[in-house]
Amino acid sequence: MAGLNEHYLKLTAGYLFPEIGRRVSAYQESNPGADLIRLGIGDVVLPLPDAVREAMHAAIDEMGSAEGFRGYGPEKGYDFLREAIVREEFAPRGVTISAEEIFVSDGSKCDSGNIQEIFSSDATLAVPDPVYPVYVDTNVMAGRSGEADAQGRYAGIEYLPCTAENGFVPSPPDKPVDLVYLCFPNNPTGSVASHELLEQWVAWAGKHGAVLLYDAAYEAFITDDSLPHSIFEIDGAREVAMEFRSFSKSAGFTGTRCAYVVIPNELKGDAGGSRVSVAELWNRRHSTKFNGVSYVVQRGAEAALSVAGRTETRQRVDYYMDNARVIREGLDKVGVTTFGGVNAPYVWARTPGDVSSWDFFDLLLDKANVVGTPGSGFGACGEGYFRLSAFGISDKVVEAVERINTRL
Ligand code: MLT
Repeated sequence: MAGLNEHYLKLTAGYLFPEIGRRVSAYQESNPGADLIRLGIGDVVLPLPDAVREAMHAAIDEMGSAEGFRGYGPEKGYDFLREAIVREEFAPRGVTISAEEIFVSDGSKCDSGNIQEIFSSDATLAVPDPVYPVYVDTNVMAGRSGEADAQGRYAGIEYLPCTAENGFVPSPPDKPVDLVYLCFPNNPTGSVASHELLEQWVAWAGKHGAVLLYDAAYEAFITDDSLPHSIFEIDGAREVAMEFRSFSKSAGFTGTRCAYVVIPNELKGDAGGSRVSVAELWNRRHSTKFNGVSYVVQRGAEAALSVAGRTETRQRVDYYMDNARVIREGLDKVGVTTFGGVNAPYVWARTPGDVSSWDFFDLLLDKANVVGTPGSGFGACGEGYFRLSAFGISDKVVEAVERINTRL
C-alpha cells in the first residue's frame, strides 16, 4: 500500500472555509426557509468591470482567428500584463520593479501556499496569530511543524500574537526565524502597517537573514494616503521581501483567477553556503508546475489596470468599503467592539458576552441567518472574535446589520 504524507494528519480541522460551507449547508438543509445572508468568505459579488469584459471578449475573438490564436503562453505571464503592472501598480508610488521580477499566477492563495516549496524543509517560520490559514496549513503539510496543541497551535511554528493591545499588528520576534508571513491590510483583522512598522520588519529581516512573505492582496482597499501599499516602498525591502498581489478582490477576479508575486533580483537564500536567487528557484518551480494564466484572463487583468478599468475597480472598492462602514457603525451602535473595516474589507469584532467564536457563529446563523467567520478559525488569538466580510450586496449588508441588532 502506498504510504501517505502523514504530515497532513497533523492538520487539526478541514480548511476553514469549506468547513463553514459544510455547516451552513447543513443548517440550510434543516431550515429550508431561512434567507441566509453570507458575509463569511471574502468573495466578491459585483460583476466584472465592463473594461475587463470587453478586453476578454476581444481576446477570445482573437483566439478564434488563425493569426490571433495562442497556445501555451509564457509561464511568468505575458509581457503586456507584467509591464502594465510595473507601470500602473508600482511606478506611481515611486517603486522600481522590473517586469522580469513579476510572476503572474492564478491566485494569491496558490502563491502564498506554494512558495514554501522552494525553501528548505527545516526552514523555521513565524506567523501572526490570527492568520490566513493557508500560510500555516501548507507548512504543516510540508512537515515544518510538530503536532498541534489543544489551541490548534503547531509545535515548531513561532506565533506572533496580534491582540487589541498591540492593534493586531505583529512585532518582530526576539529570535531569528527564516520565513515570516505578513499580510497588510490584514486578513482577518483589517489592521494596517505603517511605514515605521515595515521599516522595523525590514531591518529585523536584514539582521537575521529572514525572508518576509508579504501578502498585499488587499492593498487596493487602503483609504489612508499615509500608509504604504507595498513593502517595496521601504528601503532595503528588495533584499529581504517578496510580495503577493491579486486582482481577485479589487477587480472581481475571485472566479476569473489572476494574481502575481513580485520577487526582486536582490532576494537571496542559502543553498549549501552559497547565496542563490529566490526568484530563480521560483521560476524553476513555476515553469515546471504551472502553464500560465490564460491569454484571455491576462488581457482582462491588463484592462483592469487601464484608465477605464481603474475607474470601475475604484467604484467596486468604494462600494465594498461603504459596506464595511455600515457594518462597523451598525455594530458599534449596539455596543459590539469592532476593529478594521477602514482600510480593509473585513470587520473584526469581539463576540458579545464572552461567547466563543464558534458559538457566536452558530448564534448568528440561527438567530439572524447571517453567515460570518469565527475568529478562532484563524488562530488561538482569534478566539472571542468574529469576522464579517464587506463583500456583499449593500441592501443585504444593511439587512444583516439590522438583523444582528434586533435578533441577537
Ligand atoms: C477569506 O475570506 O479570508 C478569503 O476569501 C480567502 C481567500 O482569499 O482565499
